[in-house]
Amino acid sequence: MAASSVFSGVPAAAPVAVFKLTADFREDCDPRKVNLGVGAYRTDDSQPWVLPVVKKVEQQIASDASLNHEYLPILGLPEFRSSASKIALGGDSKAILEKRVGGVQCLGGTGALRIGAEFLRRWYNGTNNPSTPIYISSPSWENHNAVFIDAGFKDIRTYRYWDAAKRGLDLQGFLQDLQKAPDFSIVLLHACAHNPTGTDPTPDEWKEIAEVMKVRHLFPFFDSAYQGFASGNLDKDAWAVRYFVSKEFELFCAQSFSKNFGLYNERVGNLTIVGEDTDSVQRALSQMEKIARTTWSNPPSQGARIVATTLTSSDLFVEWKSNVKTMADRVLLMRSELRSRLEKLGTPGTWNHITDQIGMFSYTGLNSKQVEYLIKEKHIYLMASGRINMCGLTTKNLDYVAESIHEAVTKIH
Ligand SMILES: Cc1ncc(COP(=O)(O)O)c(C=O)c1O
Repeated sequence: MAASSVFSGVPAAAPVAVFKLTADFREDCDPRKVNLGVGAYRTDDSQPWVLPVVKKVEQQIASDASLNHEYLPILGLPEFRSSASKIALGGDSKAILEKRVGGVQCLGGTGALRIGAEFLRRWYNGTNNPSTPIYISSPSWENHNAVFIDAGFKDIRTYRYWDAAKRGLDLQGFLQDLQKAPDFSIVLLHACAHNPTGTDPTPDEWKEIAEVMKVRHLFPFFDSAYQGFASGNLDKDAWAVRYFVSKEFELFCAQSFSKNFGLYNERVGNLTIVGEDTDSVQRALSQMEKIARTTWSNPPSQGARIVATTLTSSDLFVEWKSNVKTMADRVLLMRSELRSRLEKLGTPGTWNHITDQIGMFSYTGLNSKQVEYLIKEKHIYLMASGRINMCGLTTKNLDYVAESIHEAVTKIH
């Protein structure tokens, strides 16, 4: 009998688009090539950046003889969890003072989303209830849907977010979809620097969103992957989360430190839980411990130590904020430089959205044929949706990218 692999019936899955794009970029030998796909910060020399404050803390950790490699507690490093929640909610947060906030150290923002989703399926709106609707913005980071599906949720819906014609927020569509949502639905909200559109509601618009969500009894699940990156200011970028907490919502906030600390491969994230009282948060944490135990059992320590050491030292905290601002300012500069070049070239269409949008990404409005042209003819790699990472732009490639976009827009319709 011919031996047959136990894997013979396994279908090949499609590669993850953004990683495939980077692999294609690496293989491209053209000296003009530019990678605008990758979801990570790059310097003006197109290099990854280890934040100086991170380097300093890493050296401190390496020479600290009191540290070892014992398991961390299942819920993570206590000082990491509390300091992470504190930067999300603010040092003066009433919820923290009232001891109704908890944190779960997770493997990146993705881990925080996944653990949060798993908890909600098990314990929210009835036990083991996979039929609670989950509302995700249209469009959104492509992993959101999959995370909730893999946690067992069956009813994943979208809410309107992006108005392609005006290249901005579709607030009315957003509010109408929330109004129609069944009671207790879960709504995934981008805390700031919406990925992929780079378009956030204004504070007044957030107020309207919160009002509808309150009336409709909807549960806010914030995804905060870019705090500090959007405006360069941690407090400004946490405004929406803090506003919802001030309006007495119980909520989750999945925090990632991949981008704002440049700790992509350390997998450092935190799930902040805000509840009605101490007791309910403690019970939720006890269940979170069960979920973490069967998922990764104990989280890794290095990234959490770096973040906790930085956030709990006033000097290092100041230094970190200035490092974050360096990154945010470079993005802002690239935005204005790209826009002014396109306007100078007279590229058809309007380009104000490039500077109106914030965070790492810009939704250019280029269509899939124009994207294909840029990749094939110009060796400029970007997502099929037209999303570009502003950090892929540098003072050296700006002219080339702007001229290539101009060519794509004028030649291809
Ligand atoms: C909106 C959003 N959420 C979550 C994440 C996940 O971050 P992490 O790498 O920390 O898992 C990302 C990363 O690209 C993101 O863009």
